[in-house]
Amino acid sequence: MTARYDAIVLGAGAAGLMCAARAGQRGRRVLVLEKAEKPGKKILISGGGRCNFTNLGAGPENYLSQNPHFAKSALARYTARDFLALVERHGIAWHEKTLGQLFCDGSARQIVDMLLDECARGPVDIRCGETVEKVEHGDGFTVRTASGAFGADALVIATGGPSIPKMGATGFAYDLARRFGLKLVEPRPALVPLTLGGEEVLFREISGISAPVIARAGKASFPEAALFTHRGLSGPAILQASSYWKPGDPVLIDFLSDHGEDWLLEAKRQSPRTTLRALLRDALPARLADILADRLGIDSALGNAPDKALQAAQQRLKRWEFRPNGTEGFAKAEVTVGGISTAELSSKTMAAKKVPGLYAIGEAVDVTGWLGGYNFQWAWASGVAAGEAL
Ligand code: FDA
Repeated sequence: MTARYDAIVLGAGAAGLMCAARAGQRGRRVLVLEKAEKPGKKILISGGGRCNFTNLGAGPENYLSQNPHFAKSALARYTARDFLALVERHGIAWHEKTLGQLFCDGSARQIVDMLLDECARGPVDIRCGETVEKVEHGDGFTVRTASGAFGADALVIATGGPSIPKMGATGFAYDLARRFGLKLVEPRPALVPLTLGGEEVLFREISGISAPVIARAGKASFPEAALFTHRGLSGPAILQASSYWKPGDPVLIDFLSDHGEDWLLEAKRQSPRTTLRALLRDALPARLADILADRLGIDSALGNAPDKALQAAQQRLKRWEFRPNGTEGFAKAEVTVGGISTAELSSKTMAAKKVPGLYAIGEAVDVTGWLGGYNFQWAWASGVAAGEAL
């Protein structure tokens, strides 16, 4: 006996729960099949347990995708304000931390409970601990798990990306998409620490030190904190830049983001007896200042250093070139860049163009947000887009 539903959503994560709630509230009979023993595991650990659930500034420019226009429609139809209104309707206290990032005052658990409550307002069944063994497509879709067969006219791929396999993340969405003939954009780890090798391993000496910088990779730049680690570089500025970084590319760090282009020459005029090391120690954490000063090799008082040498040092400090030899991989990546190609999907409904009834939402799709609540906003918006269409 095959149990029949209007839609089956694979994955009870951020996007899947949002989609199921929206479809259920439209009267659709929805089954959510979740492999883990409980729903919303990534939500629970997000934002250090407080869930950075959206970003007030979220717009298409905060997302990476092979088609930068794809996310526009869904993001415009379900905004950060819409999600915030939902959070407030559920009486969840929140605060803005910085840069438009909204967090729960209490716990990320509240967001999961809110989504489950929204699902309970419609005919939505959520079954956890269900491993999909087979998906058949004929007259609708049939999904087989160890506990039985489930049929529906619509199937939603909401199983996320392969970041943090330790939490059960897999490339299941990609395997399924491939089976249906949907193209993929090569997935790679994003919002991930970068590793340093060669000469640059010297920076490991200052593991644990962080400083405000501007990090640049490709055409993107992020003014936030960088953190030196025992493997290389991390911290928000680096995580952001990592999404744009490609193997072989440099990451440029501006260590003097608060200082003008002539900072060293002005310092030479005003305090000729001071040293570069002392000046850098005023601007940056002492151990970082020392390692940079050692590498710049200007030991004399500024007054004795030629202007040209100081200009060159200033240039280097404003565009310090790191050559990462890799990333810490999916094991440490907060999200995945790439995934199911947006060329295969309708930007209004997230429906697959060539497989009627099939949808893909959330991180499984080639839309990846910056750090700071943007990825959940994409999960909510794409979930709503599909939930309203199926
Ligand atoms: P998500 O991964 O949430 O859900 C997919 C679900 O599918 C999971 O429950 C999984 O178990 C299930 N599944 C997988 N394979 C399956 C199968 N074969 N059958 C059935 N079910 C299956 N973003 C943000 O905006 N703010 C934040 O604060 C954070 N913080 C954060 C911290 C950490 C440590 C990580 C790793 C990530 C974040 N993120 C974040 C990113 C955010 O968690 C991510 O973008 C969303 O969870 C993506 O939502 P999805 O629903 O697409 O996937």
